[in-house]
Amino acid sequence: MRSNYADIFNHDEDALDYDEDVLNESDPIRTGYDAALDWVAEQARVTGHSRVLELGSGTGNLTARLPDCHEIVCVDVSEKMEALSRKKVAHFSNRHFIKDNILAIFERKLGRFDAIVSTYAIHNLTESEKGHLFECLWTCLNEKGVAVVGDLMVEDEKDLETKIRSYGSAGHTEVVAALKEEFFWRLKNSIRELAHFGL
Ligand SMILES: C[S@@+](CC[C@H](N)C(=O)[O-])C[C@H]1O[C@@H](n2cnc3c(N)ncnc32)[C@H](O)[C@@H]1O
Repeated sequence: MRSNYADIFNHDEDALDYDEDVLNESDPIRTGYDAALDWVAEQARVTGHSRVLELGSGTGNLTARLPDCHEIVCVDVSEKMEALSRKKVAHFSNRHFIKDNILAIFERKLGRFDAIVSTYAIHNLTESEKGHLFECLWTCLNEKGVAVVGDLMVEDEKDLETKIRSYGSAGHTEVVAALKEEFFWRLKNSIRELAHFGL
């Protein structure tokens, strides 16, 4: 299965400005960016023995926070974002980049992982695509493996509507567009689905 919107959310055109943009934490979309990546890196508990899969690796800002490990596979549809990651990930002795869709990657039979990590990418999947991703995560994790995600989330549809109204009246048109056009996690729904898989 491929996600339907991978071409739309491919960051090739944003690549050159991306690392500067994420520094602007006064932008509500970027608020907490550094802390979220730090948290994911810490919770993933990567060691020298770990096999790691990163979904939507972008310019390598999360990868750069992880220690060298047995193997890390980074997946993204944007080669231009990947090109900017190279210097940041030079400490990895066994890193592979695969240009692919973060859902289609699971059809490649890459084996099981000790950690699957992702920041600010899975919200580009629709709710039903996220459900499919959860199944893939479940089947690709080792018994003690962890999936750790930092992303853009709202509680539910009601929270989404409230945020659209409040950011709209504060003049944050780009935030409103993102809330309407991207598929920010509906947290309550995802928690229900993840509980079903034991994640
Ligand atoms: C907002 S960036 C996040 C990059 C990085 N993880 C970070 O935290 O800075 C989202 C990345 O996901 C990639 N992306 C979006 N949808 C994708 C999909 N369906 N399959 C693969 N990559 C995707 C984009 O090309 C982009 O590099």
